[in-house]
Amino acid sequence: MSFIEGMLLFQVTVPFAPEQASTVAPEVDALYAYLWAITILFSTAITFCIIYFAVRYRRRSPGEVPRPRHGSMLLEVTWTVIPLLISMTIFVWAASIYFKVYRTPKEAMEVYVVGKQWMWKFQHQTGQREINELHVPLGARVKLTMTTEDVIHSLYVPAFRIKMDVVPGRYTQTWFEATKPGRFYLFCTEYCGTNHSGMGGYVEVMEPTEYQTWLAGGAGAESAAAQGQKLFQDRGCASCHTVEQGGAPGRGPNLYGIFGKQQPLQNGQAVTVDESYVRESILNPQAKLAAGYQPLMPTYQGQLTEEQVLQLTAYIRSLGGEQGGAGGAAGGSATPLTGGGPPAQQRSNPIAPTTTREGTGAGGGANSNAGSRPQTPAGAEAAPRP
Ligand code: CUA
Repeated sequence: MSFIEGMLLFQVTVPFAPEQASTVAPEVDALYAYLWAITILFSTAITFCIIYFAVRYRRRSPGEVPRPRHGSMLLEVTWTVIPLLISMTIFVWAASIYFKVYRTPKEAMEVYVVGKQWMWKFQHQTGQREINELHVPLGARVKLTMTTEDVIHSLYVPAFRIKMDVVPGRYTQTWFEATKPGRFYLFCTEYCGTNHSGMGGYVEVMEPTEYQTWLAGGAGAESAAAQGQKLFQDRGCASCHTVEQGGAPGRGPNLYGIFGKQQPLQNGQAVTVDESYVRESILNPQAKLAAGYQPLMPTYQGQLTEEQVLQLTAYIRSLGGEQGGAGGAAGGSATPLTGGGPPAQQRSNPIAPTTTREGTGAGGGANSNAGSRPQTPAGAEAAPRP
């Protein structure tokens, strides 16, 4: 790994690459630079050999017959083993970056993303909704849970080096931690119809204090969970599902604290209650029937938008479930949300769960990017930055 750190230390910048604005960007670029280096090295060596051999072993007289060759085991082994070793370094390095990018962290500020012909809709846990713009704080991990209303799209933020498809009927996730304030272009990279090329926007990375101001500016916006609670009442969910701690189950299971737990199913199997299971249970309730209940629930297919499904999911998450991190909905608060109030604000305090611990710990872990700025300590986001 020290070689990788070395490459990072030199802050290898690949020409033609977009600016680096996330924690993974320098790592992706270092790998890319390594591929460039190998390619250039071998292209040069091979070109040189071609020219050299063409001159050195050219036919000197018309009747010349070369001496027969019988091969060399040593040569064969050498030119098999060396490329194998080189390819394995690429594989191992690339795989480690892949897992870092595609395994989402547990503790992160969450944003729901819905793709639609032809726009990107973003929904913050605190209720703010945006179209083709996403405001995020600097130095916080942001996890995107994404789906689409219609066809497959793909969200790409070049400066962050992240790209993830959004697929109908499914949630995909990706994450990033921005390391620079500014506006960074995002766009759709999956051909999705007439205005595919116009399906773009910006991620606006703000200083944490500015971000708080921005959030406050959206005052009056109800949190995603509060909007979900409203839907829960309006659509009659409450007539079959109880949501209080210890409440007796109605025709459907009590939803208090259910999120993140294992749910036994009628067929003897079990499923973890996550975004995908909640969504499926709303749109196709009979697919994975909870053990001990009748298949009475009607489908809500076609009656709820993907955004509303996400709001309902946020509400169910907020029902005193197991919520460890700040990324979780309504951490700790056992009472169901009532307004669009403070719990939501506290919950998605986006500044807390970031690289702070590593930074104050053993002098920066392997992950801390070179030249990183001092992190705002948790809870001190109101203090002016030096
Ligand atoms: Cu959406 Cu292309």
